[in-house]
Amino acid sequence: MVPALLFALVAVLGSSCIAVASPVVDRAANTAYDYIVVGGGTAGSAVATRLSLGLPWASILLIEAGPSALGEDRINIPGRKGSTLGTVYDWNFTTTAQPGAKNRVFSVPRGKVLGGSSALNLMTWDRASAPEYDAWADLGNPGWDWPSMIAAMKKVETFTPSAHYHGSAGIGTSGPIKTVINRFIPAQQESWIPTLNGLGVPLNLESLGGNPLGVMYQPSNIDSAIYNRSYGANGYLTHAGSNLRVMAGTRVAKINLKKQSKKSQVATGVTLQDGTVIQAREEVVISAGSIQSPGLLELSGIGRRSTLDAAGISQVIDLPGVGENLQDHIRIQTSFQLKDNFTSFDILRYNTTFADEQLRLWRTGELSMYDYTGSGYTFMNWAAAGSNSSLLLSLARQAVGTSTSPVDRKKLGFLSNPAIPQLEVIFSDGYTGVKGYPAPGTPLYGKGFFSLIAAVMHPLSRGSVHIHSSNLTVPPTINPNYLSNEHDIQAAVEAVKYTRKIANTAPMSSLWTAEYEPGAAAVPETGNNDAQWRDFVLNTTLSIFHPVGTCAMLPRDQEGVVSPSLVVFGTENLRVVDASVMPVLVSGHVQTAVYGIAERAASIMVEDCNRRRGGGRLV
Ligand SMILES: Cc1cc2nc3c(=O)[nH]c(=O)nc-3n(C[C@H](O)[C@H](O)[C@H](O)COP(=O)(O)OP(=O)(O)OC[C@H]3O[C@@H](n4cnc5c(N)ncnc54)[C@H](O)[C@@H]3O)c2cc1C
Ligand SMILES: *[C@@H]1O[C@H](CO)[C@@H](O)[C@H](O)[C@H]1NC(C)=O
Ligand SMILES: *[C@@H]1O[C@H](CO)[C@@H](O)[C@H](O)[C@H]1NC(C)=O
Ligand SMILES: *[C@@H]1O[C@H](CO)[C@@H](O)[C@H](O)[C@H]1NC(C)=O
Ligand SMILES: *[C@@H]1O[C@H](CO)[C@@H](O)[C@H](O)[C@H]1NC(C)=O
Ligand SMILES: *[C@@H]1O[C@H](CO)[C@@H](O)[C@H](O)[C@H]1NC(C)=O
Ligand SMILES: *[C@@H]1O[C@H](CO)[C@@H](O)[C@H](O)[C@H]1NC(C)=O
Ligand SMILES: *[C@@H]1O[C@H](CO)[C@@H](O)[C@H](O)[C@H]1NC(C)=O
Repeated sequence: MVPALLFALVAVLGSSCIAVASPVVDRAANTAYDYIVVGGGTAGSAVATRLSLGLPWASILLIEAGPSALGEDRINIPGRKGSTLGTVYDWNFTTTAQPGAKNRVFSVPRGKVLGGSSALNLMTWDRASAPEYDAWADLGNPGWDWPSMIAAMKKVETFTPSAHYHGSAGIGTSGPIKTVINRFIPAQQESWIPTLNGLGVPLNLESLGGNPLGVMYQPSNIDSAIYNRSYGANGYLTHAGSNLRVMAGTRVAKINLKKQSKKSQVATGVTLQDGTVIQAREEVVISAGSIQSPGLLELSGIGRRSTLDAAGISQVIDLPGVGENLQDHIRIQTSFQLKDNFTSFDILRYNTTFADEQLRLWRTGELSMYDYTGSGYTFMNWAAAGSNSSLLLSLARQAVGTSTSPVDRKKLGFLSNPAIPQLEVIFSDGYTGVKGYPAPGTPLYGKGFFSLIAAVMHPLSRGSVHIHSSNLTVPPTINPNYLSNEHDIQAAVEAVKYTRKIANTAPMSSLWTAEYEPGAAAVPETGNNDAQWRDFVLNTTLSIFHPVGTCAMLPRDQEGVVSPSLVVFGTENLRVVDASVMPVLVSGHVQTAVYGIAERAASIMVEDCNRRRGGGRLV
């Protein structure tokens, strides 16, 4: 296990105002601001920073429930990724029991810290295919397409040039988030590209430009100068103007609304958990993430009547889409025991001397195993993975059935477009499965492993997240409906079968001695093993933590919650800016899209404000 000395003291700030960049304390005690952003996470950090820069006259307040933890090793050190899950920095949400997955309860980690989930995530930095962003426009959101999204996403990053990335498509060069293809590449990963090439998957060393199909080195959000995680708090907020105040350790209980006209409400500000009211002169932005933004709307009286009634909240705006349309990626994985002459990331678990040496190297800026984040990735469609794509498509049609939801229809369209990835596989050094690393005292303790993590890019199940109490501290009811249809189950079966196929293909097949998970005893290697694979899928499929869609940017009569300007329907000046507005889940990991949404939102807001005020402040 990880030695105690590796745990830095957790700096937890109480309810206090801090200026992240250049401290200006005169506004600290203000009871009114021009803009209030609720949630200092991935999108909230970005939108608050851009507003402060774009509207230098305006006062901006960013309110974050969690602490600022800029010095936290478990967040900063790439090789310690995952160590914050289940800690004070995690909201520790869980799903309801999932009938499709043997009633398992899935964990739903979410960042509760300045930077939000960007402080906890696994640092994969990628983009989906161009037509997936275009789909947002098709669904009724003019302007939300690949050209506008890639322009916004490029503003986010500064990519460190790499021999492993050819060309410049999709790459940003002057944004606040630093990205790099990790310099630490384990010897066992060298087999990755040749093995996939051997399976007919082409090399793609320009995967961020709208075509992610192929096998590639994937960047991570790491500052290559110091090898620290680069995220919302240390990336964006340190670039903000002095007109931005950050209030950490403070939870917003509700948005205050005032009737403007028969059809419209104005957000006047927020009420904090302790009852304090802070006014917003211009706008309120909710950036509490896919799991908590819908709940904040509901706590403020915006949502479906039956949900609000059940929680004892009086309805202010009837908006039945709030909390619906929850979509997520599912993941499933296999693990293999490496030959003894390889050193895997697992060594940090069992050899504290080695771990201490590596940590010292990291602290002095030298190449270290603590630099490590994965970089071996592949994205493909079902045909490329040798799966029967027409079978999967027919299962998908059955799952969608007679649904007239434009989102379901769009997902069907995704499955028939060969340019859109359906399957992702990640080479993950070290053991990252479900059954657990071998316990001390057992024969395999001290052995090294690698894992192949597969993710299904377009599962058809959609679910919901709702409050069921007016008590802010009661966690929401989260039901993603994982594996609730035959398409999603078969897609996971195809995905996991393909990982075994990869491992058994040269040169990767020469690296390992035994399949550890599931292992031949659980899923035989020959003969008809379909029933066992299916059981393995039901037993071990997890989420890869990409919930989106719960305050969807869709037309109001199609369960939409926000307009294409991200304004909540029925309000004049309340916006949602985070992963929840994504109407349909895109392939790959979602943080680049979330930051891109925030960049676009800030541009729209600055433009709106300048138009309203003729460029200057009138008040
Ligand atoms: C464990 C994990 C691994 C992941 N790995 C990757 C990856 O490798 N690559 C990738 O691209 N994506 C990854 N993701 C997904 C990605 O990180 C998220 O989609 C993204 O960060 C979500 O951003 P957000 O702004 O929507 O929400 P968040 O970043 O979660 O921000 C919401 C913020 O609001 C705050 N908040 C909530 N309610 C209140 C309130 N009432 N008052 C005040 N503050 C409040 C929260 O504390 C939080 O800071 C991962 C996610 C997780 C959890
Ligand atoms: C990088 O991380 C280390 C370890 O947590 C921390 O001490 C240091 O302040 C970080 N550097 C920056 C610039 O954030
Ligand atoms: C999450 O669980 C951990 C461990 O039980 C706990 O320390 C932490 O405070 C919890 N987080 C929240 C937000 O309650
Ligand atoms: C381990 O040995 C195998 C031969 O059994 C060889 O192919 C491989 O390159 C060696 N690995 C390392 C890291 O030296
Ligand atoms: C642990 O690491 C140290 C330092 O690299 C090394 O000398 C030692 O042999 C390792 N011990 C084991 C059990 O692997
Ligand atoms: C693919 O599945 C379809 C059923 O949808 C079936 O008719 C066809 O024979 C299958 N093709 C192969 C190659 O198995
Ligand atoms: C709110 O819920 C919490 C548990 O999450 C409970 O401890 C507290 O007493 C509740 N408050 C009220 C006013 O009911
Ligand atoms: C699935 O889990 C059940 C119950 O734990 C177990 O009996 C079964 O062997 C598992 N199947 C596979 C393929 O892992």
